[in-house]
Amino acid sequence: SAAEKEGYDFFMMKEIMEQPKAILDTIHPRIKGNEIVLDELSLDKSYFKGLNKVHIIACGSAYHVGLVGKNIIEGIARVDTQVDLASEFRYRNPVINDGDLAIIISQSGETSDTLAALRYAKQHNAKIISIVNVRGSSIARESDDVLYTNAGPEIAVATTKAYSTQMEVLFLLGLYIAEIKGKITQEERAELVDELLSIPEKVKGQLSDIEYLETLGKKFKDVEDVFFIGRGIDYSIAMEGSLKLKEISYIHSEAYAAGELKHGTISLIEDGTLVVALATQDQLFEKMLSNIKEVKARGAYVIGVAQEGNTAIEKEADYVIYVPKTKGCFAGALEVIPLQVFAYFISLHKGLDVDKPRNLAKSVTVE
Ligand code: G6P
Repeated sequence: SAAEKEGYDFFMMKEIMEQPKAILDTIHPRIKGNEIVLDELSLDKSYFKGLNKVHIIACGSAYHVGLVGKNIIEGIARVDTQVDLASEFRYRNPVINDGDLAIIISQSGETSDTLAALRYAKQHNAKIISIVNVRGSSIARESDDVLYTNAGPEIAVATTKAYSTQMEVLFLLGLYIAEIKGKITQEERAELVDELLSIPEKVKGQLSDIEYLETLGKKFKDVEDVFFIGRGIDYSIAMEGSLKLKEISYIHSEAYAAGELKHGTISLIEDGTLVVALATQDQLFEKMLSNIKEVKARGAYVIGVAQEGNTAIEKEADYVIYVPKTKGCFAGALEVIPLQVFAYFISLHKGLDVDKPRNLAKSVTVE
C-alpha cells in the first residue's frame, strides 16, 4: 500500500533510501571501539588462522557481492578464494578440502540452487558461514554460523539494501580474517574500520542529491544497448549495475572487464551506444581513461564514474558521476549507489512497474 511505501512511488526507492541505516545497523553491532567482534561465530580464531581456502557461493546480485568479497578475502587476508554461481558449483566437481570455508550469500535464505550448493559443500566437509537477511530461513538454519545482514524486509524484486549490507559483512569478515592471519596490523585494521564506519554517512550524502541521476535517467531511457565497463572491483560493480538496469528497464545491457573490450565487445560500439565507465580504482584509473578514449573514438556516449577529485575523467567522458572518496577496497559500496538510482529512474520514466519486473521473482525456490 501507499502507506507501506512511506510516500515513495516504489519500494525500490524506499529501500535505496534506507541504505545508510541498513549499513549502519549491519556494521555497528560488530565494531567495538575499532575492533571487529563477530560474537555470533562459533568457528574460533584458530580455525581462521589455519584457513587455506574459501568458496563464496551465491546467485544473482548476491554472487556479484561475492566477487567484491573475493577482493578483500584474497587481496587483503591473502586466502585463496573462489567465487561460484550456486547453480554451477556442484556440477563442476570442485576441489573442496576438509575444513575449507564456504561462504553462502542469500537475501532470502531460500534460493534452491544456493541451498543445494550449501548442502554439497557441507557433505564435502566444508565449514559453512552464511550471510543471510531473513532470520530463521533454510540457509540460515543449515549453516554452521550465520552473519545476518540487518537490512530489514526487502520487498522490491531488484535488491539494493540487501546487496549493500551483504558487502559490508564481507568487508568485516575479510578484515577479521586478515588480522587473525597477521596480514594487517592492528593499526591498519583500526584505520580500515574507521573508514568503514564512515560509509553510512557517505551514502547518506550521495542520496541527498539525486537530481542529476534523474536527469541522466530521463536522457538515456530510450537507449537500446548499454555497456558497463570496469577493472578490478569496478568490474564486479559493473556486473551489478548492468543487472540492475536490465532487470527493471528491459534495456539490453552487459558488463565487461574493460581490458577485454579489444577482444570482442568493441565491435558492438557505434554512434550513440551508451557506455558507463567505472573508474574508482587509483591504480587502474589511467587504464580506464584509455578505455574511455577507445569507445569515444567509435562514437559512444560515456558516463564516467570516479572518486571525487579525479577530475581528469571530465576530459574524456561526456558525463561524470562522482562518488565520495574512500579506500579503494571499499569503493564499490559507494559506487553501486548511483547505479541503483540511475536504473531506478530509467525504469520509472519508462513507466514500468519498478518493483515487479516481468518474469522475475524475489526468491527463486526451484532449481
Ligand atoms: C533472484 C532475485 C535477485 C537475487 C537472487 C538471489 O533472482 O531476483 O535479486 O539476487 O534471486 O536471491 P537470494 O535471496 O538468494 O539473495
